[in-house]
Amino acid sequence: MKFHINLLEEFGAHLLIGLVSQGVEMLIEQIEHRWLLAFERTFALCKVQPNEVVALLTESQSRRVNVDLARLALQQMGAKVFEVCLPTPALSAPAPIRSTGATDVIQNLAPVVAALQRVHLIIDCTVEGMLHAPELPTILKGADGVVPRLFMISNEHPEILERTVPDPALEGVVRNAMKKLRSAQHMHVTSKAGTDLNIQLKSAVVGGVWGFCSKPGMVSHWPGGLALAFPAAGSVNGTLVMAPGDVNLTFKRYVRDTIHLTIENDTITRIQGEGVDVDMMRSYYQAWIDKEGHRDACAVSHVGFGLNPAARWDAMTFYDKRDCNGTELRAFAGNFLYSTGANEVAGRHTLGHFDLPMRNCSIALDGQFVVQAGELVKGVFESAAS
Ligand SMILES: [Fe+2]
Repeated sequence: MKFHINLLEEFGAHLLIGLVSQGVEMLIEQIEHRWLLAFERTFALCKVQPNEVVALLTESQSRRVNVDLARLALQQMGAKVFEVCLPTPALSAPAPIRSTGATDVIQNLAPVVAALQRVHLIIDCTVEGMLHAPELPTILKGADGVVPRLFMISNEHPEILERTVPDPALEGVVRNAMKKLRSAQHMHVTSKAGTDLNIQLKSAVVGGVWGFCSKPGMVSHWPGGLALAFPAAGSVNGTLVMAPGDVNLTFKRYVRDTIHLTIENDTITRIQGEGVDVDMMRSYYQAWIDKEGHRDACAVSHVGFGLNPAARWDAMTFYDKRDCNGTELRAFAGNFLYSTGANEVAGRHTLGHFDLPMRNCSIALDGQFVVQAGELVKGVFESAAS
């Protein structure tokens, strides 16, 4: 008997040690006052007013704590809130997809589109987000004299959102960066690791996100703080070298290998290197090529850079994969963000999407450095006329 008790005690102790080391000390998802305050601060930047009608757009796989925090914060601010919750659709992709920004939850359901057109603000708590959803342009046209704005809350644990509550000063910086991108003809990206990439910006469509949206028709997401361009077809050529510490956000993984990517006429034509990161990239792309019969998933989606000093490159280290969506890493100041996948400007459509934030790159716009060795050039966006 004693023997059994000892065994149980020992087993129990091992179990405890095992659970702690495997992350049972993980962050708990529940309503916390500090997170309510973070949501209220962010919604105040979105200029939520008493009696504004706000739709929470959610799906069955949404992170409920964020939905609840949003609802409570909006009610606290006097808004009239309702929730549209859709079932998360069956998978259609040949491989898992992450952070495409192109949710298919609405399935073009007319009553849902009609409801969303008529609210002042849509809080987007879908897993993938509405940024590139096919219904968004119609929704943002509004109806009955109302034009909504859409604010996507990235599928992150609330602690990540708390750390990245938007700074109002980011709006001016991002607007200036967008202005510079719009007026530039050419982006040249280099790095000590061997990146040498030429991007023609003529006819590119420029976007930017500062983390809140206060005006009808606007779209933003939290965390925010980046500027980017969707290049026109045939605009990108050269070599992109991912070095250890660069990130593949579809895999939610810091790469440990060096990956040489040859890009010809927008498309990755060669992946060179040794190691599991190289193999994983090859196999994921191959899944899309096999399913779709073309290489659109390997072609450039968007290029840009992070502008948010509060966003951390190393943040992903601190969270379990289920706790984060990685939007913070898209925004850390001085990154070069290269992405492959859908690019409407170039006429390419696919759900295969990589966001690849890279460190230590230098970015020049028409010969003027805006990022040098992974650091934003001081004053380059602050000083431009807004
Ligand atoms: Fe992306």
